[in-house]
Amino acid sequence: MSGCCTPRFYGKVFSEKTARRDARRYRERGLRGTALVTFEWLRARRPETVLEIGGGVGALDVELLLAGAARATNVELSPSYAAAAGELAREAGVGDRLVFRAGDVLADGVEPADAVVLHRVLCCYPGGEELLGAASRAARRHLVFTVPRDTWWTRAGSAAANVLLWALRLRFRTYVHSVSALVGVAEASGLRRAHDEHGTVWRTIAFER
Ligand SMILES: C[S@@+](CC[C@H](N)C(=O)[O-])C[C@H]1O[C@@H](n2cnc3c(N)ncnc32)[C@H](O)[C@@H]1O
Repeated sequence: MSGCCTPRFYGKVFSEKTARRDARRYRERGLRGTALVTFEWLRARRPETVLEIGGGVGALDVELLLAGAARATNVELSPSYAAAAGELAREAGVGDRLVFRAGDVLADGVEPADAVVLHRVLCCYPGGEELLGAASRAARRHLVFTVPRDTWWTRAGSAAANVLLWALRLRFRTYVHSVSALVGVAEASGLRRAHDEHGTVWRTIAFER
């Protein structure tokens, strides 16, 4: 995985411009869609510590901290989110409780947390099962992930996006991983599926120990 997945490489795709756009959208509209589903499910379970993998500007972490979590860590493969994430956390008054770390969980490892979140992350990484395995092992009580549903139309959309990325000469690719294989990985580490919902494209699955 090392050739494809460096911070420098992801920092170009998930750029400072993307970060400013995501932060602006969150300021204007708050959490929406699957991010809101993830937040509501976790808020009810009151995690003390949160690890978000690929958390972007960290909007979910900010909300979970405001809802009572003590500490959150956002491990992001793209360093381009750091400034916007820090700004959002400071604005919300949780800057001292939210750590942004640039890096790849698989290469660098992570500290365990009560709740581990991967919101629309596995679709941006080739080693979906390995990444989810590391996330599952780090989850003391809860794990929530959102991925594209494993359907012909999400696979067609991903293939079309990859053609465009190839034409733009970007080495980044999108992935539709087998959802049953991902669920198997989480269950193999002792987690039990507690919630499962989907729309046309995205599926959010939550687990507990
Ligand atoms: C589509 S963005 C989603 C960002 C955020 N979770 C959201 O929903 O707004 C996917 C993110 O996952 C990050 N990512 C992918 N693989 C990762 C890994 N192995 N470790 C940490 N971050 C990763 C990328 O850098 C990117 O920022």
